[in-house]
Amino acid sequence: MPLLEVRNLKTYYYTLSGVVKAVDGVSFTVERGETLGIAGESGSGKSTVAFSVMVMPPPPGRIVSGDIILDGENIVKMKESELRRKIRWKKISMVFQGAMNALNPVYTIGYQIAEPLILHGGYTKKEAEERVKELLEMVGLDPTIAKRYPHELSGGQKQRVVIAMALALEPPLVIADEPTTALDVVVQAQIMNLLKKLKWEKKISMIFISHDLAVIAEVADKIAVMYGGKIVEYGPADKVYTEPKHPYTRLLLKSIPRLRGPIEKLEYIPGVPPDLRNPPPGCRFHPRCPYRFDPCDKEEPPLIEVEKDHYVACWLYAKR
Ligand SMILES: Nc1ncnc2c1ncn2[C@@H]1O[C@H](COP(=O)(O)OP(=O)(O)OP(=O)(O)O)[C@@H](O)[C@H]1O
Ligand code: SF4
Ligand SMILES: [Mg+2]
Repeated sequence: MPLLEVRNLKTYYYTLSGVVKAVDGVSFTVERGETLGIAGESGSGKSTVAFSVMVMPPPPGRIVSGDIILDGENIVKMKESELRRKIRWKKISMVFQGAMNALNPVYTIGYQIAEPLILHGGYTKKEAEERVKELLEMVGLDPTIAKRYPHELSGGQKQRVVIAMALALEPPLVIADEPTTALDVVVQAQIMNLLKKLKWEKKISMIFISHDLAVIAEVADKIAVMYGGKIVEYGPADKVYTEPKHPYTRLLLKSIPRLRGPIEKLEYIPGVPPDLRNPPPGCRFHPRCPYRFDPCDKEEPPLIEVEKDHYVACWLYAKR
């Protein structure tokens, strides 16, 4: 049984200007100790998937349908009180996109890491202080940092702090949403090394989200590529990264500098991401796809297995 199984998840935002189909029928699994990478352009629905897995879609968002099965238990319909008591931070935690800039400026780092331990973990104040030291060391920080305030820390140090917070109650699943994006390259590499180390040492499962496939390929065992609220390609990380099948994945890879393989000219993906209030019919990528042909703007391509465990949703691979 996988640690997490997400089946046909739909999460929509009910805005005044229409219903945004941000996540529209997404399925994936995360095995124990496995890291799933989720890639895709801005607005493709990555963060919405992350919040949905925590069963806390940001308002005006709502999980419309689908199952989120954690350790055999469907948590989608669980009561808010039960989610708080049993699931969040204990079983699934999240390093939110931009979380390091959301640390509270008026409290010390130590206080902020200790708070969830006391609130959700049943720690006494004394025990929490000890645990804070341990956690800071675990993420490569000097324990004396506990006495400092967020503004006294560098970006990389703050990001380590939010990672420590996510690990505080040792959840089996950690979601990291763009954990390196706002950092300079050197610090980015340090944070990636930290996450890799934690993954091996703590055997945690991770959902690692980034718009940058090259960064994802460094940690992920499996990659899901999202476009316009759907998964368009899904498979073993090395396969998706070195032998991408979907036209969108191919363009996404050409739009970033590659760490492996021959040097290629960088290209931009033409056009703009779809308006998810009114997504294009058929394949959502068809207005931007250089390979589009007859069925693409009419019928939605099914996600089919093209090689073992490697799935693609594109008419170039599917039989009609
Ligand atoms: N609170 C909200 N209210 C209304 N629409 C939203 C809200 N949050 C996200 N959306 C819309 O949902 C879609 C998916 O957004 P989401 O934040 O999940 O994308 P993302 O892939 O995480 O993008 P990024 O790479 O920029 O973080 C977008 O069209 C976005 O405009
Ligand atoms: S289904 Fe058609 S439009 Fe969509 S990616 Fe494949 S070829 Fe391009
Ligand atoms: Mg996001």
